[in-house]
Amino acid sequence: GDNVMYLAHRYDIELEGACEASLACSTCHVYVEGDYFNKLPEPKEEEDDMLDQAPALRSNSRLGCQII
Ligand code: FES
Repeated sequence: GDNVMYLAHRYDIELEGACEASLACSTCHVYVEGDYFNKLPEPKEEEDDMLDQAPALRSNSRLGCQII
């Protein structure tokens, strides 16, 4: 699918994605800048749980593989 993690890979932007978008890691952690953050649908509970384990969590943190 065309989530942010896959797009990053396609354009050679460095972003991991150890679990291949199955919400079992937090290596696809990204910061979403400005207005875009508020335009995204709310994260699923599973995403929130994984984000809690991400290093350097910020208020605009999301998991890249969950942003479509
Ligand atoms: Fe593992 Fe996104 S790649 S949660």
